[in-house]
Amino acid sequence: MLNFDNNATTPVAPEVLEELIRVTRDIHGNSSSGHSIGVAAGDLLENCRKRVAKVLNAKLPSEIVFTSGGTESDNAAIRGCAWAMKDAGRGNHIITCAIEHRAVLAPCEWLAKHGYEVTVLGVDKNGRISLDEFKKALRPQTILVSVMLANNEIGTVQPIEQLGALARTHGFILHTDAVQVAGKLPIDVQALGVHALSLSAHKFYGPKGVGILYLRDNTPYTPFMLGGTHEYNKRAGTVAVPQIAAMTTALELVEKKRQSRGAEVKRLRDLLVQLTLKDVPGTHVNGDLNLCTPNTASLRFDGLYGGHLLRKLDDEGVLASAGSACMWEQTKPSHVLTALGLTDAEGGSTLRFSLGFDNTEDQVRELVVKLARLVPEIRKAPPQAIRPPKERVATH
Ligand SMILES: Cc1ncc(COP(=O)(O)O)c(C=O)c1O
Repeated sequence: MLNFDNNATTPVAPEVLEELIRVTRDIHGNSSSGHSIGVAAGDLLENCRKRVAKVLNAKLPSEIVFTSGGTESDNAAIRGCAWAMKDAGRGNHIITCAIEHRAVLAPCEWLAKHGYEVTVLGVDKNGRISLDEFKKALRPQTILVSVMLANNEIGTVQPIEQLGALARTHGFILHTDAVQVAGKLPIDVQALGVHALSLSAHKFYGPKGVGILYLRDNTPYTPFMLGGTHEYNKRAGTVAVPQIAAMTTALELVEKKRQSRGAEVKRLRDLLVQLTLKDVPGTHVNGDLNLCTPNTASLRFDGLYGGHLLRKLDDEGVLASAGSACMWEQTKPSHVLTALGLTDAEGGSTLRFSLGFDNTEDQVRELVVKLARLVPEIRKAPPQAIRPPKERVATH
């Protein structure tokens, strides 16, 4: 299997699986219980909180809230901070961006139906917001800004540090979805100047269904999940200690790997693009690789539907992802590709290749050989000759 779909999810690393099994088996207590096995679980939980805080350079371990994943972290940050700020009479205006993940756009749309005003900033052809437009959109009533650190489909990195500086002078809460960044770029919550940041374990070789919400101390926040007093009153519910322990191991591991092997992942991504542009005529890069996470390449292939190519690649053991919902006669590009200004045909002919630490140069070369054979084949074939693709719009 040639896995070039690491932005969708990553395999659980062996050390992480071991930790998941060890804690599930040996430390099964409820971290809120007062007896010895409960205290052992509680101690491990607080140890994980400290270790995660260290990796993210948070000031306090209590700023780390464990959640069920990126979607929950995004929802909790957006709905929780917006509610608290509005309740305190600070305003009702939110700014976000057109290429955010649905886990950010959907709660913003929900808030827009419930008394908040939402500005959705457009992006340029590389997927970057404009700071000038951002400043123009700011109002005295702006309470919350949610702009992602890096995009899942094209990898564009946004100028969050500059937004952090504006947050200091204008007093809005700054949330960033960093789900696609762990293990790819450094994450330093203080340097970024964010109040809230979302992460998801399954994107960095951890288990699915567990994530992190960094929430700076004293940030106005109304808990999203109500019930017990878990997670310093920020997220009710019995805490998933084994998953959190595994995620913590994964975060430390991926940060070490980023430092030792990150440059190699970037070299392989660049090689993939360079060889594909050379060996597969009629290929283009969406966005600017210099502004992207080092593992992601969004490529479009003139004259075909990305879903068809995706299916052919899948038949040959290659995993990638489409940027569109491809039907027989129509393509519906994702909201991200549309926001870049791509036409339906351009968006529909796009595939995302996202590398991980397990990819090798041989795999990259094998992928390009396959592309060089399959792309002209698909371009020549009448559409009926190709099995309909199963892929839906890439939302991961
Ligand atoms: C940028 C981004 N945000 C949020 C999410 C949602 O994370 P999760 O799958 O943990 O709910 C994803 C996952 O696809 C993502 O890529």
